[in-house]
Amino acid sequence: MTEAPALADGALPDGARSAAAPALPELAITGATGTVGRLTAEELARGGAALRLLARDSARAPQLPRAAIMACTYCDDELARAALVGVRTLLMVSADEEPQWLEQQLGFVAAAVDAGVEHIVYLSTQGASATSTFTFGRSHFATEEAIRASGMAWTILRSAFPLDLVALLPGADDTVQGPAGEGRVAAVAKLDVARAAAAVLRDPAAHAGRTYELTGPRALSFHEIAATLTAATGRRIRYLDETVEEGRRWRAATGASEMRVEAWVSTYTAIAAGENEHVSGDVELLTGRPPVALEELVGL
Ligand SMILES: NC(=O)c1ccc[n+]([C@@H]2O[C@H](COP(=O)([O-])OP(=O)(O)OC[C@H]3O[C@@H](n4cnc5c(N)ncnc54)[C@H](OP(=O)(O)O)[C@@H]3O)[C@@H](O)[C@H]2O)c1
Repeated sequence: MTEAPALADGALPDGARSAAAPALPELAITGATGTVGRLTAEELARGGAALRLLARDSARAPQLPRAAIMACTYCDDELARAALVGVRTLLMVSADEEPQWLEQQLGFVAAAVDAGVEHIVYLSTQGASATSTFTFGRSHFATEEAIRASGMAWTILRSAFPLDLVALLPGADDTVQGPAGEGRVAAVAKLDVARAAAAVLRDPAAHAGRTYELTGPRALSFHEIAATLTAATGRRIRYLDETVEEGRRWRAATGASEMRVEAWVSTYTAIAAGENEHVSGDVELLTGRPPVALEELVGL
């Protein structure tokens, strides 16, 4: 640590939260135990920012200079309100893993309003709309709508499919399979999403009322993805364009919930429908550098 934190590294006693709020950092990040939240926090910490890291499990939050770690979950509005008192700018990393995630996120947005948060930056998904093929895209849009109507200043970051996940798609049988047809995906590296988020959080007023689309440099077909991964790994990776029913069947057999299976399958059908092929210049606009390509990510 380069400087004593406003409060120690996470050992903040629950009862001290409200009373100590004025001394806490005014810039807060949720999802600090996840990839995008952590990378954003690290990016900002490198520039000397004081951060309030909000985590479901404080023990897993990154230890950063000038960072206070506070317990917070979207499932507990009271805890969220207490964790947000004194926050001026908030990065809300979306949480799409639980059945009630939309209701929980809407509760969290309301808690942010109650706590007096001035500006909220929401990590949404590319193509979010009331009619998105990607089922979670509809819930992201509903969250966006609540944020736009909240009275807080806002910035929406619509992130494309994670490039990091693209590299992990081949199964043990060296096959990438999904009902994506000949569709293309403008996948973006999580590091680029984090750098873009950090740029917005450094100067939120300059980005108020704006929606950014964070994509990679190119829209890739799954045949191209398979070819690039083949070149990078030396394995013969192929793309199997399965039907929607085939896609549902084997994913359901993994024991995943129906909600998760539909989200999974509709990730691919959205790509087939062309809803994830738009390439934007927003990563470079925000970060000053071109987004990472798949070739670079896999070391080619
Ligand atoms: N197509 C896509 O896949 C796509 C595209 C755009 C955006 N996104 C969104 O981007 C988000 C962040 O990506 P990531 O790579 O950083 O994901 P990640 O590594 O899974 O991190 C998710 C973070 O959210 C936290 N979280 C989950 N549920 C929560 C809840 N109910 N209350 C409070 N915090 C909660 C997690 O906490 P724990 O560590 O305690 O689990 C974790 O810190 C994803 O959740 C997803 O919604 C995905």
